[in-house]
Amino acid sequence: MNTENPSAPSAAAEPEALVVDAAGITFGAVKAVDDVSFEVRRGEVLGLIGPNGSGKTTTLNLISGLLRPSAGRIRLGDRDVTRDPIRRRVRLGIARTFQSVRPFDRLTVRQNIEAAAVGSGLSSREAAPLIDEIVEELWLGDHQGIPASSASAGLVRRIGIARALATRPRFILLDEPAAGQNESEGEELIESIKNLVLKRNCGVLLVEHDMSVVMNTCDRLHVLDSGRTVVEGDPAEVYRDPRVIEIYFGKQGDHA
Ligand SMILES: Nc1ncnc2c1ncn2[C@@H]1O[C@H](COP(=O)(O)OP(=O)(O)O)[C@@H](O)[C@H]1O
Ligand SMILES: [Mg+2]
Repeated sequence: MNTENPSAPSAAAEPEALVVDAAGITFGAVKAVDDVSFEVRRGEVLGLIGPNGSGKTTTLNLISGLLRPSAGRIRLGDRDVTRDPIRRRVRLGIARTFQSVRPFDRLTVRQNIEAAAVGSGLSSREAAPLIDEIVEELWLGDHQGIPASSASAGLVRRIGIARALATRPRFILLDEPAAGQNESEGEELIESIKNLVLKRNCGVLLVEHDMSVVMNTCDRLHVLDSGRTVVEGDPAEVYRDPRVIEIYFGKQGDHA
């Protein structure tokens, strides 16, 4: 498995897990993420939930390389990627979507997806069949020729997922993909998250407030509050956990 071939680092042993190990980062006086540890395995969906400001997006930023942790490590299989730049992590198979992001407005939907594929090292010609597959999988067929500037909010989310998929990820981090989607789009999202696992054997880290999306996709939940882990476990049990109920209803009164 481990080929020792320096020209093909991503062909080395397939990493089976993405590991966050005692990670932390401080902004001024705020410990945005504080001693957080979890593991996402290929073929599973781990939900990362918690109230607004609990450190979910910051955790994704530490994993994707947008931020460097001040404590702890990020590992992809045996490889320590804590100091690797974003682009390197993408090539190693870590992709993400953003909570709010604009696609390239002047490009069509398809060109947006192609740009991500080319950015991850494929030629346009190599990317074409992959893009066809992604377009079909995410129901983008009717939209691929339109300029991204005219895409609806729901469509923009799907373009984000399509762009992440175009980098051929092993692990995919989704930051509130259901936000701004209507109910039928939510159902499509559930199906596309399941496809990430079933068809592509990705490991998925899902940050999401929509309980129906979470309950229909996640194998386990990891709960954050004020940057710290509250509990991790089976989704139904986590939602019944008194500490979790306290966070959502006791303090905030806001089922975020
Ligand atoms: N770049 C930053 N500079 C300063 N504070 C930040 C920055 N990013 C996030 N924070 C703070 O870190 C905490 C966690 O934020 P975030 O990870 O965005 O939460 P969530 O995604 O769970 O809503 C919040 O208190 C937020 O204000
Ligand atoms: Mg966030």
